[in-house]
This record gives sequence, structure tokens and C-alpha cells, in this order.
Amino acid sequence: MRRFFVTGNWKMNNTIAEAKALMAAMTPELEAIDSVDKAVAPSYLAVPAIAELCKGTGIKVGAQNLFWEESGAYTGEVAPAMVAEVCDFVIVGHSERRQFFGETDETVNQRLKAALAAGLHVIVCVGETLEENEAGQTESVVTHQLVKGLEGITETQAADITIAYEPVWAIGTGRAATPEDANRVHKDLIRPLLRQQFGEARAALMRIQYGGSIKPDNAAELFAMSDIDGGLVGGASLKADSFVAIVKAAAMVTIVEHESKK
Ligand code: 13P
Repeated sequence: MRRFFVTGNWKMNNTIAEAKALMAAMTPELEAIDSVDKAVAPSYLAVPAIAELCKGTGIKVGAQNLFWEESGAYTGEVAPAMVAEVCDFVIVGHSERRQFFGETDETVNQRLKAALAAGLHVIVCVGETLEENEAGQTESVVTHQLVKGLEGITETQAADITIAYEPVWAIGTGRAATPEDANRVHKDLIRPLLRQQFGEARAALMRIQYGGSIKPDNAAELFAMSDIDGGLVGGASLKADSFVAIVKAAAMVTIVEHESKK
């Protein structure tokens, strides 16, 4: 029986006051949904306040990035232990980091290893651009990102990793991948790569989130697919009602799957 993992990536949005208001508006309804793992990733400065609000609610709080060095002269960076002091998880390799801030598969790998060593759960993002998609390179690009990004990671460590497949052309565009197309990448590409590296049992347990224009009206059909185990939600996580609706969609699919197994 799979358990969905739905994460709101707030990106560079919300002041501390706005973040707290958003969290307060959705906490009661999110808290009431036990069957789904729920999480939010505010900007760094809002993280402590949101972590405080989420204490005892079961809602996990994470950061959107971290640096791999332990401490030192790295102005503007945040170290793994600093993130782990407040957060349950961290996102690494988001396409916006790759696109605007020079993130590479090698630095994703360094961040991943440092985050795991600090005891964090890690969401590792992969996904092809529109040009790569149109050139038929989805398979080679995602394979490369995953193989390099996960290099040196063991089966035991993989228990603390979630993969997020976010096709770049679907992020913030209102044009989500079709459930079938997204599931094909999850099932026929990402899951087999995880199987190769971590073995059958671990790969089956690892969750693969889809990200890219998830909305309340397409969430259920995405989550109903065999290998879409949750979502990494951007825009729609900035409004309490739409994020709650997406988490409810996951809860609904959970019930349907449970009933159909009886
Ligand atoms: P949108 O849901 O706004 O398309 O963003 C997806 C994303 O990048 C989440 O990390």
C-alpha cells in the first residue's frame, strides 16, 4: 500500500508574516488528513517560524537548498547542520537552481551526500527542458541527472531519498504533463534506474513525486497513476485552499486504492 508524499515548494515567495498566515490557514485541514505525508518548503528566513507552527501537526518542514560544506567562509550559504537543526528535509537540484544558479549533477550529488550525512530526508529533482523534450532527449537527460546525482548512494541511504520528476516545460506554465506521459517517465525510466542501483525492494518503496502545474483539478488523475507517488507543488501551494485540495486528492486516491485491494 503506497503512501503519497505531497510537498509545497513555496520558492521565493512569502515574507515571514505571509508565510505564517498561509500556514495557519491550512494547518487545521492538513492536520486532519492522516493518510498522506504533507510537507512545505518555505524560504530560509521563514523556515523557523513555520517549523514552530507545524510542531506536533505531522506536517514536515524543509528547505529549498543547502550547501555541502560544514562551515566557513562561504558568504550567503547555509550548511547541512544548520538546515537539519530546523528542517526535516531539503530539496536539491531543483530546475530553477540548475537554470539560474549553476547547479550541476555533480553539485546535486555533493549536496545530497552532505544532507544525508546531516540526517535530512532529501527530495532530488530531475527533469528535461522543453528543447530537450522536443528533441526526444527526455530519457538520456533524466538518466544522466539521476545516475550522476545519485552516484555513490547506497541502498540504506536511499531510504531517505524521494525523487521529484519535474519537466521544466511544465513548471509554472499551466501545462502539466499528461498523467500517462509523466507515469511513463516514472515507471519505465526512473523506477528501473532506482532498481538498478538500489535493488527491487528499495526501489519499490521509494517515492517519485511529479511536479509541474499540479492543480486541484488535475491532481487526482496524476496521483491515480501507478508510479506517481505524490507531488512537488509550486504555484498551487501558495494558496491554502488549493494546496489542501491537492492533498485531499491524494487522500482520495489512497482510499480508492485501498478499497480496490480488498
Ligand atoms: P508549479 O507547480 O508552479 O508548476 O511549480 C512546480 C515546481 O517547480 C515545484 O518545485
